[in-house]
Amino acid sequence: MVLVRTKKELASHLSSLDKTKGLGLVPTMGALHKGHLALVKKAISENENIIVSIFVNPTQFNNKEDLEKYPQTLEADTALLKGVSDAICVFTPTVEEIYADKVKTKLYDFEGLDKVMEGEFRDDHFNGVGTIVETLLDLVNPDNAYFGEKDFQQLQIIKKLVAIENIPVKIIGCPIVREASGLAMSSRNERLSENMRKEAAFIYKTLKTAKKKFGTESAKKVMDWVESQFHKHHDLDLEYISITDVDTLTPIQKKQKNIKYRAFVAAYAENIRLIDNIALN
Ligand code: PAF
Repeated sequence: MVLVRTKKELASHLSSLDKTKGLGLVPTMGALHKGHLALVKKAISENENIIVSIFVNPTQFNNKEDLEKYPQTLEADTALLKGVSDAICVFTPTVEEIYADKVKTKLYDFEGLDKVMEGEFRDDHFNGVGTIVETLLDLVNPDNAYFGEKDFQQLQIIKKLVAIENIPVKIIGCPIVREASGLAMSSRNERLSENMRKEAAFIYKTLKTAKKKFGTESAKKVMDWVESQFHKHHDLDLEYISITDVDTLTPIQKKQKNIKYRAFVAAYAENIRLIDNIALN
């Protein structure tokens, strides 16, 4: 496994690669779990050369405590990656290496995709994500870049980012990987107590029933039902339930036959923010 920490080392590694064999980038913030490994495996199946970036990006955190508490587990991360393939290059720069002496966020026009759900509750989050993803794509110049559907809104925004900035890369979304209980894999799950980690499976269970209900009931009824379920569950605090068009992320008004919808939830468990989503049709 190659581990590079600076842009210069990265450039030198990239220049040693046979570009005709395909280059895949998997951007991560570390604290890797099976969800990340699924992205890496998918990347390996489609590209000969793989870069996994591990960088806890300060510009996408709207909550200082969340940033400070974000797990940093480089040794465990590299061990996990080695277990998948020894041929991976890990790029793990410092904040100074990426942002030099000023940590600055670029402002984008994501045409409204960033104004709903996560964007509504996390100020400037997607400008921060856009800033780092554009920087990484610029440094690595991959053929393909891989992102998980747990952050479905992020995935759509990154597709928009490469379109508006004309970045020549294919953005590939990969299905959510779940714990045995159904809880969507997330680095934040590590911060839940053992009991809450089981309890939080309630989020996916509720989404699955919402999907069933969506077949016969109005979107409003389904969302009201989800709200009422969370209301009864005292350990989980619902921030939002939203049903949107998958492409525009516009909240649903009235169901239309030729539109694909998805339901999105954000909820707090033991002060830890968890998100999940499900395709409805
Ligand atoms: O999904 C994440 O882990 C991050 O938002 C990403 C895409 C690596 C950018 O920091």
